[in-house]
Amino acid sequence: MKKKIALVTGGGDCPGINAFLASAVRRGSKEYGAEFVGVRNAFAGLASDNPEQFLVPLDIDSVVGLENRSSTILESSRFNPFTDENVARGYPEKMQANLRKLGISGILGTGGNDTILSASRLEKTGFPTVMAPKSIDNDVSGTDVMLGFRTAIYFGAQAARSTADSARAHRRISLVEVMGRQAGWLALEIGVASGADLITIPEREVNLTELCAEVKNIYVNKKYVNLVVAEGTSIPYDDPVITRARKESAVVRALLEESPELDTFGNPKLGGISQILRRVLIIELGLKKIEEVRTTDLGFTLRGLPPQADDINLGIRFGIRACDILLAENRSGVMVGINGLEIKEVSYEEALKPKTVNRSDRELKALGVFISSH
Ligand code: F6P
Repeated sequence: MKKKIALVTGGGDCPGINAFLASAVRRGSKEYGAEFVGVRNAFAGLASDNPEQFLVPLDIDSVVGLENRSSTILESSRFNPFTDENVARGYPEKMQANLRKLGISGILGTGGNDTILSASRLEKTGFPTVMAPKSIDNDVSGTDVMLGFRTAIYFGAQAARSTADSARAHRRISLVEVMGRQAGWLALEIGVASGADLITIPEREVNLTELCAEVKNIYVNKKYVNLVVAEGTSIPYDDPVITRARKESAVVRALLEESPELDTFGNPKLGGISQILRRVLIIELGLKKIEEVRTTDLGFTLRGLPPQADDINLGIRFGIRACDILLAENRSGVMVGINGLEIKEVSYEEALKPKTVNRSDRELKALGVFISSH
């Protein structure tokens, strides 16, 4: 009997997702005669009262040229059907009832740690799912790279390099802030590829007195400094440098007093560390003119990019493998991934182990990462 497969794309969008969708539809239709339907807004669409409104029929003709398109044609959401509140509201049952009503026998999707967690919970209810890893954060285990990471690095490095040239021309201190949540992969690789003087990552807490001294030292000698800072960079908020900045800067006070919003998976919304570090550097280096330190927040510019060839290749290979696992091998509950050049698969449990920067201080320091001695 012809199988009907739903495609979902959850969490933060990124380059390469559409290549996965196009590849899965082509492989599944041609090789296994399967029918595909995209579900907009991921699990929010699947758990809605009118799931039909979120369906996007996908076939070999409708995915022509889709690989090159940025973001995801199926939109996305961070809806978590398995929070205690949503479980009490019966969302998991509603989702299963919708899947039965729509005649859907399996799900293929892209997601980061949160979406993969939801897929693993749906799998535990007995509904077959196979996922492919996507995120510019590159923070899921079981794969060397996630969809979107390579394209984000490529453009992020260009953007950071161009701010570096501007900082050199104007003899300034430039702070480039990038996403990445609690993992420093994005900041690390953009920093190294753009020749940043200093890189700060969440995995190495920053001693601000030492950071300011290091920046001052470079500034005095080179007349400009380029820093790439991860949005999750951790600074000790009881640090005397912060106490001073809080006193002297209304912006620092406002940013520190704002309690971070949490998403449905409990992740704090990050962003703004470069604004705090800018004021700290001006105060601690005794800079007269505020414009001596400038910031650039690359933020979402690295998510909505058209995919580079690397991510198109990866999306297509993930789509083929995910289809073969679900439709030819009738298996599920796994995430596809890439190790070296080989496409592999891991259990959701393995995939959900956080993957943060696990390099030695010695190597990180050599790469330009700021490592505090205290
Ligand atoms: O997970 C990807 C990511 O881009 C993180 O780097 C960032 O912290 C977060 O998503 C932003 O989330 P949102 O898109 O909900 O603002």
